[in-house]
Amino acid sequence: MKPLQGKVALVTGGSRGIGRAICAALAADGADVAVGYLGSAGAAAQVVEEACARGVRAIAVRADVAEPDQVEAMVRRVGDELGGPHILVNNAGIARDGLVYHLGPDDWLEVMRTNFGGVFNGTKSVLPRFMAQGEGVIVNVSSVMAERGWIGESNYAASKGAINAFTRCTAMEAARFGIRVNAVLPGFTPTDLVGGLVDGDSGKSIRKQIPMRRYGEVEQVASAVRFLAGPESSYLTGSFVTVDGGAATALGLGRPSL
Ligand SMILES: NC(=O)c1ccc[n+]([C@@H]2O[C@H](COP(=O)([O-])OP(=O)(O)OC[C@H]3O[C@@H](n4cnc5c(N)ncnc54)[C@H](OP(=O)(O)O)[C@@H]3O)[C@@H](O)[C@H]2O)c1
Repeated sequence: MKPLQGKVALVTGGSRGIGRAICAALAADGADVAVGYLGSAGAAAQVVEEACARGVRAIAVRADVAEPDQVEAMVRRVGDELGGPHILVNNAGIARDGLVYHLGPDDWLEVMRTNFGGVFNGTKSVLPRFMAQGEGVIVNVSSVMAERGWIGESNYAASKGAINAFTRCTAMEAARFGIRVNAVLPGFTPTDLVGGLVDGDSGKSIRKQIPMRRYGEVEQVASAVRFLAGPESSYLTGSFVTVDGGAATALGLGRPSL
C-alpha cells in the first residue's frame, strides 16, 4: 500500500511550477489530489490528467487564495467531491520585487494578501475539518528569503517571514488535535516566478554563490513536501525544511584566500 493511499491532498498553486511537482509527488504516493489554481485552467487540467494517470482521483478547483470566501468554498468542494481533505499544501505565491523606495501600497499588500493571506485562509478553512477528523497535515511553502535579507525582496521576504511565524504558532495550537504544521523553505528554483532572476549574467553570479553551485529543481522541493505530508515525518511539527543547495547557510561574503 502506498503511504498516502486513502488521503486527499489540496495543493494551492498546483497548476504550475513547484505546486505542479507537488501534485505529481503526492499522487505518486497514492493521494487523491485537488489542484488549486487561479488563472491557469488549462495547465491545472493537465495536472489533473497526469495525476489520474497514476491511478488516483483528481480535480481542479479555482480559487483566489487571497479571498477567504473562495478558499472556504474550495475546501468545501474538495470535501464534497473527494472527501477530506487530510493534507493541505499552502503553496500559491507571487512576487512583486522592487526597492522599498519604489514600492507602492499595492506592491506590499498584494504580496501579503496572496502569500501570507493564502496560508491564513487555507489554514482557517481546513482546521475545523482536521479537528473533527482528529488528523491533518499542513505544509506551508515559505522561502529562504523568510530568514535572510536581499535587495528588492522586502515585501516578499516579509510575507514569507509571516508564514514562518504563523507556522510555529499554528503548530503549537494544532498539535493536541493530531494536526501537524510544517514549512518548506525553497532556495532558487527556476520557475515562472524567478525566471528573470536566474537567467543571464545575474543568474550566473547568483549560482556561483550557492555552495552546491546549481539551482534547485521543482521535484527536489516536492520531495521535501512529500516527506512532510507523509507518515515518515509523523513526529515533526513546527519544523522548517530548507531546500536550497546550502544557499541560506552561507555567510555570503565571498571566499577567504585559503
Ligand atoms: N521558485 C522559487 O525559486 C521559489 C523559491 C522560494 C519559494 N518559492 C515559493 O514557492 C511557491 C510556488 O512558487 P513557483 O515558483 O512554483 O511559482 P509559479 O511558477 O509562478 O506558480 C505560482 C502558482 O501560484 C498560483 N497563484 C498565484 N497567485 C494565486 C492566487 N491569488 N490564488 C491562487 N493561486 C495563485 C498560480 O496559479 P495560476 O497559474 O493558476 O494563476 C501558480 O499555480 C510560492 O509560494 C513561492 O513563493 C519559490
